[in-house]
Amino acid sequence: MRNEKLKVGVFDSGLGGLTVVQALKQVIKNIELFYIADTKHAPYGEKTHAEILQYSLDITDYFIKHHEIDALVVACNTATSAAITTLREKYPTLILVGTEPAIKPAIEQTKTSNVGVLATPATLSGDKYQTLVETLSSMKQVKLFEQACPGLVEHIENATLESRECMALLETWISPMRDEDVDTIVLGCTHYPLASEVIKKMMQKEVILLDSGKAIAQRLLMLLREKGHKNEGLLHETFYTTGVIDQKVVKRLVGRDIKLITL
Ligand code: DGL
Repeated sequence: MRNEKLKVGVFDSGLGGLTVVQALKQVIKNIELFYIADTKHAPYGEKTHAEILQYSLDITDYFIKHHEIDALVVACNTATSAAITTLREKYPTLILVGTEPAIKPAIEQTKTSNVGVLATPATLSGDKYQTLVETLSSMKQVKLFEQACPGLVEHIENATLESRECMALLETWISPMRDEDVDTIVLGCTHYPLASEVIKKMMQKEVILLDSGKAIAQRLLMLLREKGHKNEGLLHETFYTTGVIDQKVVKRLVGRDIKLITL
């Protein structure tokens, strides 16, 4: 193996994928990490399958051309749903890790057998989600409360999560889960962990919120190790955005300053 850090590209439509980056950094060391927040095209969840696929291909080509990445993490449920199959076909030698809603751990953990799933409209209507649910349906009889959340990604990106408009939307989406004894909610969009506190408050009771960050980190580590990765040493990170992002919002959301380079 080359005596240098493996290079990992990570992307999302915006800041949501940074929740995955946080999880990666808990587990993975000694890599060169490049992140693209594709804010120019956000939100992905309300775009067509073909559009999301094209954004994903363009970003992957950019990572390969400019950074010769060894691995790609699609830190976005919506882009995974629309693009992962094509990406696997087009880049057979690239290590590829996608993001899927954490339905399996939710089915394992629920005590009331009522599970909420919050995701973008594109994720919930995609074949990939439907297949995942069908495959897991034999595990245990569980009632899924699936809720698409159009508009939530923008509220998160604009730091208007606690605005009256957003709280009203959340109340409409969350109240059926509260009333129906949901005890576990799958955060099926990588932006939604940034809304965890608000969702918990709105449930007004103990609730388990599940995202996919840890599972992605473990999977990536395993695949990197197969390529001879040594998990010791510093992780170096560079962040790009395709549009405008307010630094104050970034700091408020992720709790630290991040230097974002506009592409
Ligand atoms: N964070 C993304 C996801 O996991 C995309 C959200 C969006 O841009 O709609 O689905």
